[in-house]
Amino acid sequence: MFTDKNILLVISGGIAAYKSLALIRLIKKAGGRVSCILTKGGEQFVTPLSVAALSEAPVYTDLFSLKDETEMGHIRLAREADAIVVAPASANMIARLAGGFAQDLASTCLLAADSPIMIAPAMNPVMWNNPAVQDNISTLKRRGMHIMPPASGDMACGETGEGRLPEAEDLFAEIERFFFAPKPLNGKHALVTAGPTYEPIDPVRFIGNHSSGKQGYAIAHALRQAGATVTLISGPTALQTPHGVKRIDIQSAEDMLSAAESALPADIAICSAAVADWTPVHIADSKIKKQASGEIPALNLRENPDILKTLANHKKRPRIVIGFAAETNDLIANAQAKIKKKNCDYICANDVSGAQVFGAEDNHVHLISARGVTEWPRMSKDGVAQKITDLIIEELG
Ligand code: PMT
Repeated sequence: MFTDKNILLVISGGIAAYKSLALIRLIKKAGGRVSCILTKGGEQFVTPLSVAALSEAPVYTDLFSLKDETEMGHIRLAREADAIVVAPASANMIARLAGGFAQDLASTCLLAADSPIMIAPAMNPVMWNNPAVQDNISTLKRRGMHIMPPASGDMACGETGEGRLPEAEDLFAEIERFFFAPKPLNGKHALVTAGPTYEPIDPVRFIGNHSSGKQGYAIAHALRQAGATVTLISGPTALQTPHGVKRIDIQSAEDMLSAAESALPADIAICSAAVADWTPVHIADSKIKKQASGEIPALNLRENPDILKTLANHKKRPRIVIGFAAETNDLIANAQAKIKKKNCDYICANDVSGAQVFGAEDNHVHLISARGVTEWPRMSKDGVAQKITDLIIEELG
């Protein structure tokens, strides 16, 4: 996989920079070529000499180095890379990348790069959880960079938590998987519904719910990473469109159904949207006023179309149809009833009664199918998305 591949490795400041040396050896052993940029911070932890000796290539450190520019311009350094890895990526490096700064060789190269980029953050656990760092990470993800989550454990600073740079072997495996593994869903079209629907009552009011869209967006991202062409049909959310995903914005369940049917044919349909079951029969043309008499207006509702059920029974039915079930009681029994009623292949059942699911970063899912029930441990919504993607790959493979 690595044979004749050029990896540009950016080593920024951090005690874990020594692991990058082991990473260079692994890439070289696998037949790859490694060019390295060492930031000023990185130079405090590993020397240019050790990096050059292991990579068997010159090490680049200065933006304004006459020698480096005559040998290889900084733009060329980025352009010649098949893949770019930033490991360790310090909080400062991540902030510079998110801000689009070009103040040193590393940030300039990364700004000029058109190859895929993987970031391996490493820092103190409190820093890692700082909203400023997390916002920057979200920005990089949205731009299509791959973030390898830091590992948990004892830190050099004496604290314990999430923030360690993964071991060189794990970094190597992730590089292999992300950049060079075959994309198993290449050529497949996936349709994903996400977020809430808003059912209008009058020009200023609607019936909605607390769905943030996070679970559905994570699924769209994971499917895209696996090579699928993804159409994401989204209710109103504050989220950024995952890189490479086609997003169609809708408001109501009716809009969602018509967008979903227009997106067919598809090989895969995943309905994670929290669709309103009912919609007002009549939408008032102007804002409904309070009555002087104190009379409360009645809201007459009718049933909305069921998008999941429609897709699962469609003449252009996708090969795999997966729904979700948000339940406050009798999780498994209700989800099993839904799988039959809607004719889908799988239901991801999540209990929305206790621990927060709507808007949260993680989820606890029971996967239901005709074959039985599998409980997945509580994990990030990205983790759930990856499990669903793996399941689809297995089914379609
Ligand atoms: O968006 P997040 O904040 O990340 O939260 C994630 C989530 C809780 C919204 C998600 O994990 C989830 O459970 N989504 C489904 C919510 C829901 O509407 O469940 P339900 O049990 O009411 O519906 C069952 C299935 O039918 C769902 O796949 C739903 O998309 C679908 N449905 C329901 C009604 C309808 N009219 N059309 C549908 O397609």
